[in-house]
Amino acid sequence: MNSQAPAQSHTLNLSSDLLTGTEWSAAHVQELFRLSADVKAHPDRYKTALAGRSFAMIFEKPSLRTRVTFEVGIASMGGTAVYLDHADTHLGDRESVPDVARCLSRWVHGIVARVFSQEALEVLAAYASVPVINALSDVYHPCQTLCDFFTIKEKFGSARGLKLAYVGDGNNVCHSLMVAGARVGAHVRIATPAGYEPDANIVAAARRDAAATQGTIELFRAPEEAVSGAQAVYTDVWASMGQESEAKARAAIFAAYQVNAKLMSQAAPDAVFLHCLPAHRGSEVTDEVMESPRSIVFDEAENRLHVQKAILLMLLS
Ligand code: CP
Ligand code: NVA
Repeated sequence: MNSQAPAQSHTLNLSSDLLTGTEWSAAHVQELFRLSADVKAHPDRYKTALAGRSFAMIFEKPSLRTRVTFEVGIASMGGTAVYLDHADTHLGDRESVPDVARCLSRWVHGIVARVFSQEALEVLAAYASVPVINALSDVYHPCQTLCDFFTIKEKFGSARGLKLAYVGDGNNVCHSLMVAGARVGAHVRIATPAGYEPDANIVAAARRDAAATQGTIELFRAPEEAVSGAQAVYTDVWASMGQESEAKARAAIFAAYQVNAKLMSQAAPDAVFLHCLPAHRGSEVTDEVMESPRSIVFDEAENRLHVQKAILLMLLS
């Protein structure tokens, strides 16, 4: 096919928002991966796909990857992104979230929001008449983990039946890995210290969803057990944005959860290493693992661009 071929669209009905990732079925995720691959291989086909469309980007927390990939992705499809820096004021401080949602809906075609509170995001979406995309909240990071499983699919051909070990904090990224993993039929094995397990309701829902794809969600205490035979090993920071005051205490609690060469040696011989980034080298991962041939963190970062372009197309076309 040449780059003049028409842009592909998706064929499945879906919710207008992406707030948790649970809105999407296993079929939606496969459709997203098909579209992401086309967007990545043939970006020129999509260069007018969002012509005349504007997006508000509400960011209450810092971002490199999510901000740049959404802004560049929207511009590369002919759309315009307006960045709203809320670093010093939280959503709802200056005016109510329902009012923000209803004003923005009169001006833009979609809202991308990175927020402290999943609850505020859900209020925003309830009052907005345009699609709202979660660009990270305290509970979920769906754009990240849809991209992660797309990256795994590129490397292994399929994520179905693949063992992915997540080592560290049972946080937003961990929750979204379970949600996405359940939809692609992966075996998601999570090791956390006591008291830092993922939310029990999200685990239970992911287990129910995983039953339909022959995936599994398992919780472990020992990192070595979760990583044993895994084809993908994943970690994230021990203190997420907003938890800076806990960083020192967490560093002591999570010390045994570092992904280092010794832990990677327990994984499958062809195992890859993933990290959503930013990484704290010497804490949750060593420099050696980050720079090793097993590390696919920059392919993963690149794919944020392609997968989020496809997410926008799924929600807006
Ligand atoms: N992984 C990720 O979301 O990175 P940013 O915080 O830089 O957007
Ligand atoms: N868990 C991290 C992810 C950063 C992309 C955080 O919320 O800060």
